[in-house]
Amino acid sequence: MGRIAYVDGRYLPHQQAAVRVEDRGFQFADGVYEVIAVRRGRPVDEDDHLDRLDRSLRELRMPWPMSRRALRLVMRETIRRNHLGAFGALYLQVTRGAAPRSHAFPATAKQTVVMTARPLSLPTAESLGCGIGVVTVADIRWKRCDVKSVSLLATVLGKQVAVEAGCYEAWMVDEQGLITEGTASNAWIVTAGGELVTRRADTAILNGITRMATIGIARAAGLRFVERPFSVAEAKGAAEAFITSTTSMIRPVIRIDGVAVGSGRPGGTTVRLVDWYLDHVEAEGRTV
Ligand SMILES: Cc1ncc(COP(=O)(O)O)c(C=O)c1O
Repeated sequence: MGRIAYVDGRYLPHQQAAVRVEDRGFQFADGVYEVIAVRRGRPVDEDDHLDRLDRSLRELRMPWPMSRRALRLVMRETIRRNHLGAFGALYLQVTRGAAPRSHAFPATAKQTVVMTARPLSLPTAESLGCGIGVVTVADIRWKRCDVKSVSLLATVLGKQVAVEAGCYEAWMVDEQGLITEGTASNAWIVTAGGELVTRRADTAILNGITRMATIGIARAAGLRFVERPFSVAEAKGAAEAFITSTTSMIRPVIRIDGVAVGSGRPGGTTVRLVDWYLDHVEAEGRTV
């Protein structure tokens, strides 16, 4: 069954779906996006994703391209037409539209809206629970990493370093030697005292929806939690480490730059968080 993309009001087979050559998303990365997990046809943490989209649009001084209600309907129709089954991911992009190439905002341009969706195999406690390796790279991004913009070149380069090192993710490091986040995930450690640590959601990182859900889960479970930066050395010496993201969910980090974290096996706190997060996704897949 072929994949269907939504582009500016039309649902088209991928081979026919296209945007204009002077689309500002293509020429200037002048756009924002969201990636939303879909469980049993239902977007996971939908309101949080739409709130973050709202914030990204506002920060780039872009209006909503349609009402929030209309966007939800298009999301559902894109999901339906792509037969996601048990699990999948929805990609949504809004750009400032197509206009003759010139840096300043165009006086008149209709925003471009694109949505695609694809089925994914449903992660399980086993598939998520086997640990991953990360490498550290310099964080060479701009100073507004809190905006989920389609300007992703620095993270593309970082992820490629990870792939070439046989790792799942790269953790980016700022000029103070502190870890900001992964190229497509947030970074966490668990201290020897059992405290969960992740960087505060300032302009240096994207405030992940999975990060926020994990904070809620940790609080509800009575785990001790603090938002503060941590160094590469602290992470390597931590009891446990893990990443969070929409499509990776929660995955234990067992090696950083080839150095074993803790026992070198997935940590107990992380494994419990994986179970609780899977319960959260299940619950979201049952909402009406
Ligand atoms: C740089 C960055 N940080 C964090 C995340 C995790 O965000 P979320 O949990 O909303 O997927 C992503 C997701 O793609 C990302 O690109």
